[in-house]
Amino acid sequence: MEASISLHYSVIGSGMPMVFLHGFPLDHTIWYSVVDILNSSDLQIILPDLRGHGLSPAPEGVYTMDLMANDILNLLDELGIQKAILVGHSMGGYVSLAFSRRYPDRLAGLALIATQALADSPEKRQSRLDTANAVLERGSKVICETMPSKLTDKEEIMEKIVSTICRTPPEGIVGALKGMAERPDLTTYLPSIDVPAVVVAGVKDTIIHPENAQLMSRRLGNAWLVKIQQAGHMPMLEAPEQVAVSLTQLAQKVSLRM
Ligand code: MLT
Repeated sequence: MEASISLHYSVIGSGMPMVFLHGFPLDHTIWYSVVDILNSSDLQIILPDLRGHGLSPAPEGVYTMDLMANDILNLLDELGIQKAILVGHSMGGYVSLAFSRRYPDRLAGLALIATQALADSPEKRQSRLDTANAVLERGSKVICETMPSKLTDKEEIMEKIVSTICRTPPEGIVGALKGMAERPDLTTYLPSIDVPAVVVAGVKDTIIHPENAQLMSRRLGNAWLVKIQQAGHMPMLEAPEQVAVSLTQLAQKVSLRM
């Protein structure tokens, strides 16, 4: 395992710990609209930037999902938190699933947003490695010029998405692309996750097909599915109220079990 790093994070409120893991190549600010709606008197909202993203360090190397899950474990230890609800968007969902598998005793609940348990196809893996090489040669603009329009069709949030992606350093983009390419298929592991879980899918998602969400929610032991008609790959920005309602319901289910 590579050397551990200290993630940048902020904490809002006190109560049941809920850790929000953003997708690739974004940062913790994508959660602000949802966080504004949630009741921070019931929740300890923890907003890290994953390694290589936002204000966290961006060492060179391959950011496997297990390595990033280990960063989150270290963060929980630093904050003295025994168990937390993880909310993972897309790549943050891959990290949440890796965390669930490695550290099941530290997981209280799971929200999987616009994500999947499947591994990459060989073609997808190759295209990630090609993109990583292009970023090494030409920098982050390779991604920030092409990716935003695939994430949403909502013009009003496009600027925010473009500026967040453009801030992500090349080392972070390359490390995450290589790490995602290596991730295993966790489908057969899903039934052993027994904490309350919600799976949220944007019906218009063109990056991760909403059918994958359906598959995950059926396989998880204790989950329900929320499909959001007006959302694509960014439900937390496209439909923050619906995401906040799902997270509040999840926190209620988790507290009933404690
Ligand atoms: C993300 O939004 O985190 C990524 O697009 C996920 C992926 O490329 O598989």
